[in-house]
Amino acid sequence: MSEYKRAIVLGGGSEIALAIVRATVAADAHVLLLGRAGPHLSGAADALRGDGYRDVQTDLLDADDTPSHGRVLGDAFARLGGADLVVLAVGLLGERSGVPADVDGAVRVLSTNAVGAGSLLLHAAKELKDRGGGTLVVLSSVAGEVVRPANLVYGASKAALDALARGTGDALRGDGVRVLVVRPGFVRTRMTSGLRATPFAIDAAAVGRAVARGLERGKTVIWAPAALRWMLLVLKVMPRTVIRRLPL
Ligand SMILES: NC(=O)c1ccc[n+]([C@@H]2O[C@H](COP(=O)([O-])OP(=O)(O)OC[C@H]3O[C@@H](n4cnc5c(N)ncnc54)[C@H](OP(=O)(O)O)[C@@H]3O)[C@@H](O)[C@H]2O)c1
Repeated sequence: MSEYKRAIVLGGGSEIALAIVRATVAADAHVLLLGRAGPHLSGAADALRGDGYRDVQTDLLDADDTPSHGRVLGDAFARLGGADLVVLAVGLLGERSGVPADVDGAVRVLSTNAVGAGSLLLHAAKELKDRGGGTLVVLSSVAGEVVRPANLVYGASKAALDALARGTGDALRGDGVRVLVVRPGFVRTRMTSGLRATPFAIDAAAVGRAVARGLERGKTVIWAPAALRWMLLVLKVMPRTVIRRLPL
């Protein structure tokens, strides 16, 4: 278990984020979950309280309302008296069938995953830097590493977020801000319910454990499960003609 004492989760209703908190944050820490109003957010808070977390607070966050992010993040940091861990888990999967029939829906995925999450990332990084440092865990995806036809909009949105997160980590290395980019494969959560699991499918708790290990070992990028790193290395050198035909 880590030394984190004040944790903020952006996308507080996320099942993966909940698992990351359980694996990395001690029960005597202060935890603030920011997300959309509804049963996912309140359910995550109740679940943590049920696990013995003594101080779990919630507040509202709309990832698409980028002009509000400076104020929302500023309030969140002020409320906890600073934060040593921020988990960015906001994300939408959207349609998975090549060029989307619903272009407006695809634009929403791009907007939330790349622009909205990107805005949250930058505001969180700035708050951490201004307050002397801390750790930022960003949920990217292997889908962004090699963008496949089946998942092209989501993959492109995660590629953008992943690049922004890695660049931010590099830029703020001397300022005490550490960015861990997490690239899961198929994780069995609400987001993927009803979809056929791909090889190497895992549950959210396994992502939590992978993040805890990655933080302990000082990693800047991790894959979950770790074997995906090598699979992606192979995929990256494959010709596009092969990638187009993969049943993934
Ligand atoms: N599951 C996978 O296979 C997988 C694989 C790779 C990466 N990831 C990434 O991991 C992260 C967490 O995913 P998950 O599996 O835990 O799914 P999840 O439970 O659906 O979490 C996604 C979270 O994003 C929030 N969100 C979406 N749009 C939002 C908006 N406009 N404003 C505020 N919050 C918004 C959702 O809010 P609500 O609770 O209100 O819906 C939800 O809490 C995502 O970034 C996802 O892309 C997941």
